[in-house]
Amino acid sequence: MSLDPTVSLRPTIVSRLRAAGCVFAEDEAELLIEAARDAAELDVLVERRAGGLPLEHVVGWADFAGLRIAVDPGVFVPRRRTEFLVERAVALAAPGALCVDLCCGSGAAGAVLLSAVPDARVHAADIEPAAVRCARRNVEPRGGRVHEGDLFAPLPDELRGRVEILVA
Ligand SMILES: C[S@@+](CC[C@H](N)C(=O)[O-])C[C@H]1O[C@@H](n2cnc3c(N)ncnc32)[C@H](O)[C@@H]1O
Repeated sequence: MSLDPTVSLRPTIVSRLRAAGCVFAEDEAELLIEAARDAAELDVLVERRAGGLPLEHVVGWADFAGLRIAVDPGVFVPRRRTEFLVERAVALAAPGALCVDLCCGSGAAGAVLLSAVPDARVHAADIEPAAVRCARRNVEPRGGRVHEGDLFAPLPDELRGRVEILVA
């Protein structure tokens, strides 16, 4: 964080967020302060959030199952409830499991599989170029691959009949 944590702007930010209907105004203010490089940028971020943009799109990331997942504009914000799905997938996946994250959005599910299942082999796919670009930032540095196209169509042929875990 580049701003002083005792920044005098904090109460004003909390009030602006609360007036805009943010239930967790204090927590959000902390995240916005952390994300901003200076007071001018902080003002822009608070304005975006107060204007109704999801917090995750304002700061550019979401906390998902303990991972910081990049979320670009126009890409679906991974939901808390999806953590349950991913928890189940992780519990079912043996080490080295071949996994597919279909309609992956940000690739949050695939990223968690890669971080929680030893030697998991993860392929993610989405039809939206923005989602694919975002998923590449979350999945490929962790060792997975991301493909662009309709449902199963873009997946490599060699996966046919060998997928052990499918999350969607
Ligand atoms: C509700 S989002 C869910 C994203 C992700 N699974 C998650 O839980 O965060 C649905 C995603 O499905 C993608 N999608 C919709 N139709 C698709 C299709 N025919 N083939 C591949 N992806 C598709 C969208 O682009 C979007 O990213």
